[in-house]
Amino acid sequence: MNMTTPSPALPIPAAEPALAGGELPKAARPGTHIRSFVHRRGHITLSQKEALETLTDTWSLPYTDRHISFAQVFGREAPTVLEIGFGMGETTEKIALAQPERNFLGVEVFNAGVGAMLRRIEDSGLRNVRIVQHDAVEVMRDMIPPASLAGVHIYFPDPWPKKRHHKRRLIQPAFIELLATRLAPGAYLHCATDWQPYAEQMLEVLSGEPQLCNTCEGYAERPAWRPQTKFETRGLRLGHGVWDLIFERPPASRYSPRADA
Ligand SMILES: C[S@@+](CC[C@H](N)C(=O)[O-])C[C@H]1O[C@@H](n2cnc3c(N)ncnc32)[C@H](O)[C@@H]1O
Repeated sequence: MNMTTPSPALPIPAAEPALAGGELPKAARPGTHIRSFVHRRGHITLSQKEALETLTDTWSLPYTDRHISFAQVFGREAPTVLEIGFGMGETTEKIALAQPERNFLGVEVFNAGVGAMLRRIEDSGLRNVRIVQHDAVEVMRDMIPPASLAGVHIYFPDPWPKKRHHKRRLIQPAFIELLATRLAPGAYLHCATDWQPYAEQMLEVLSGEPQLCNTCEGYAERPAWRPQTKFETRGLRLGHGVWDLIFERPPASRYSPRADA
């Protein structure tokens, strides 16, 4: 296991060819999904800008429409957890420091957030984090091999509270169907939100996905290993509640109980 040398950036040979669009859930087919974000200029600090300029080649992978090999990207064989929308990356950093035996692939579209995360990787000496700056739906669809992930974290995705914007919410049946195919048997999906109507939508969508099982009755307690996120802190200040959901893709044996017979 080599955790000291950053692995080279892409191009990485495809482990398997990407699926043809017709094999994917409808809304995940190329060109058919509504994005869960809008590009915004936003403020970026000098340090974040400098990190983007100097550290991207070392710690970021460019988007590719081919499946990647985690062993090549991280330079070791280890369970890999994908996080969607890490924001400024403070939670990702804490979890990755606390779980050095796992790889963390963070996906974020926001320049300042990616710059901040690159800075954290460098300053904390993190060797188990890589970044893709791209739409997570396309990353999941095109870069992540089927049944390859040990877990997925989606913490406080944009709630899009206005009714006319609900279609932008990330947690939708077609995306969750796609995501579930990327989880290895026994792997988990952990979501959290501070927006009750979105929590209810999450519970309905995740419960309705036949490839997933709820690990709890309804909502879960926040596990001790999930630190409070920046967005969560803001929500709590506004008097919001917090809802965690932890679903899993059942181990293969539970799909076919006679497999060992
Ligand atoms: C409300 S913030 C939450 C950030 C962080 N998880 C937290 O709890 O503080 C949601 C983040 O998700 C990112 N995001 C939204 N849709 C995305 C997508 N399709 N792919 C990648 N990132 C996305 C946004 O840029 C934003 O930084």
